[in-house]
Amino acid sequence: MAIAILTLPVIGIYVAIIWLILPVFNYFRDPKGLRKYRNLSLLSGVTDLPYVYLNSLGFRSKSITEAHQKFNAPILRIGPNNLSFGDVKAIRDIYGHSTPCLKDLKYSITGGPHPNIFDVVDKPKHSEKRKRLSAAFAIKNLVDWEFKVADTTARLLAAFDKRCTDPLPADCSTPAKDNLTIDFNHWINLFTIEAINVLALSSRLGVLEQGDDLVTAQRMDGTTYKAHYRRAQNQSAFATSYFIWDYQNFHVLRLLFNIFPKWRRIHGEANPWKDVIYHQTITRLNRHQNGEKLDDFFVSLMENKAGEPYNLEFGEILGDVGAVIDAGADTTAIALTQVLELLIRHPEHMRTLREEIDPVLDGEVVAPFEKVRNLPFLRACLDEAMRIIPPTSAGLPRRTPPEGAMILGQWIPGNTSVSMTAYATHHDPTVFPNPDQFQPHRWMDPAERKRMEPYFIPFSTGGRGCIGRNISYLEQTIMLASLVHRYEFALPSPEWKLKRFEAFNLLIGEMPIRLWRRRQTGHVAA
Ligand code: HEM
Ligand SMILES: *[C@@H]1O[C@H](CO)[C@@H](O)[C@H](O)[C@H]1NC(C)=O
Ligand SMILES: *[C@@H]1O[C@H](CO)[C@@H](O)[C@H](O)[C@H]1NC(C)=O
Ligand SMILES: *[C@@H]1O[C@H](CO)[C@@H](O)[C@H](O)[C@H]1NC(C)=O
Ligand SMILES: *[C@@H]1O[C@H](CO)[C@@H](O)[C@H](O)[C@H]1NC(C)=O
Ligand SMILES: *[C@@H]1O[C@H](CO)[C@@H](O)[C@H](O)[C@H]1NC(C)=O
Ligand SMILES: *[C@@H]1O[C@H](CO)[C@@H](O)[C@H](O)[C@H]1NC(C)=O
Repeated sequence: MAIAILTLPVIGIYVAIIWLILPVFNYFRDPKGLRKYRNLSLLSGVTDLPYVYLNSLGFRSKSITEAHQKFNAPILRIGPNNLSFGDVKAIRDIYGHSTPCLKDLKYSITGGPHPNIFDVVDKPKHSEKRKRLSAAFAIKNLVDWEFKVADTTARLLAAFDKRCTDPLPADCSTPAKDNLTIDFNHWINLFTIEAINVLALSSRLGVLEQGDDLVTAQRMDGTTYKAHYRRAQNQSAFATSYFIWDYQNFHVLRLLFNIFPKWRRIHGEANPWKDVIYHQTITRLNRHQNGEKLDDFFVSLMENKAGEPYNLEFGEILGDVGAVIDAGADTTAIALTQVLELLIRHPEHMRTLREEIDPVLDGEVVAPFEKVRNLPFLRACLDEAMRIIPPTSAGLPRRTPPEGAMILGQWIPGNTSVSMTAYATHHDPTVFPNPDQFQPHRWMDPAERKRMEPYFIPFSTGGRGCIGRNISYLEQTIMLASLVHRYEFALPSPEWKLKRFEAFNLLIGEMPIRLWRRRQTGHVAA
């Protein structure tokens, strides 16, 4: 008690200086000349807290996009040291291969003790990591690993078959509650979790057979316990995203909010995530050291193509395994949930898609990649879903180099946080007419596709673009083709809405569906 009373004034003075006096002073001093840019909100030039608040509303990328439109401002000051761009021409300047910008401080603040491929800022260090891993991510390798994805797909379909209901009567659009036997987002995330662990670590978790996400977690001291894989990853992403926008006070705010039971619970649920990664990594490393020869991503962290060992530090291995299984599951699950929801809501596009897929499948339950990879409408549906609501909608923060950088024809001073959201890019009506409408056909004309592609950035672009793009398309293509070929789907009701919260990725809530087998005309599935 006495300590609390003594520390309060100290905290008070700290808060006053850090949050009030210095920022206001710097706002008027304006050493970088950022005051000439339109504010996102009244206080954006003084503090990042308006942005933290915007984040708490749940969909900051969309809010930012709307603000750019409302103020007709291609550049918005969204924080004291932070500019958001709202013109697609900025994409190349900020993210393109020749950009002088690096990943922003945010990545080092949220990263672990060993920078991983995702959060490392230093360019040479990133190149070294990227080179090691990209050998494994080459499309040729991926096609050799199709069987891993196909096997995991078959396991999901086996679980779905068991949960099928009778067909929904044609005149009914609101299935009874007890007929909504599947939370699609839950199951498709279990699928992407299994898929990435099989691909990366030759590890079969068994969550698709269990139907829940309970797996083994392991502390550094070797003791193990059971933890919820999905929940831990999800809550970890949620907790990290909440206060990170205020870099300076991130750690303080996190600790401070632990006085609320809600935040203690969230942090408690998030904690096992690092232990899940640790268990998966150490288990695979032991197999390697016991001489097991396995064919997966992990091998590319151990040795080069000639079989010469890299002898990396354990922390580095742990970091990069964590990066791959962290980045490689929920994103693809979000994409698949969203495309299925959109197709259920647009029966005319679902029909067109089935007319394309049904004739090429010949009794196969899992669609062979070779047969579906070049189906243009299938790809159009996947791309249009990732366009309209990018799974990673956010403005990925970059930092201008100390000497500054040219962005959108303007000289932006050094050490400034800059970004443009994929959401704003994908909703620019000059690139994508009627941007709020789900229109897969816009991708069907090759010349149009070519025109739009530079501004289609769900996987970001340039040297820090997604390394898992091809893997994600492999999973999405096989899964969506297999699902729409085999099943019929219904949402809870026409008014039902998917819940979203934008952390780093656009986290989504449950998607309860009713699912039943299609009556096959002509082609009979086994
Ligand atoms: C629909 C699915 C996916 C989406 C929308 C997506 C999106 C992205 C985006 C936007 C970035 C850039 C992040 C940044 O600049 O901070 C990124 C990077 C990355 N992604 Fe993905 N991703 C997907 C699937 C995957 C998969 C399946 C894997 C792994 C197998 C993966 C692994 C990575 C890695 C390792 C990076 C960091 C690359 C680097 O900095 O060199 N992603 N992803
Ligand atoms: C930004 O907000 C401040 C108040 O915090 C206001 O004085 C200023 O005019 C605004 N600047 C612009 C360019 O909107
Ligand atoms: C579907 O709902 C109907 C009516 O509520 C019920 O009779 C039937 O048992 C349900 N079927 C399944 C598979 O849940
Ligand atoms: C600036 O905004 C971007 C994206 O909108 C965000 O990721 C970043 O953390 C912000 N930086 C600061 C210093 O607030
Ligand atoms: C860049 O800005 C951040 C605060 O936004 C500061 O902590 C850092 O020291 C600056 N670095 C340089 C090189 O100016
Ligand atoms: C994906 O595959 C294509 C070839 O189809 C290749 O050009 C590209 O570099 C691959 N992308 C990644 C991120 O590995
Ligand atoms: C993930 O977090 C979001 C935002 O709090 C929430 O809506 C969603 O239900 C969570 N999902 C899981 C599996 O915990």
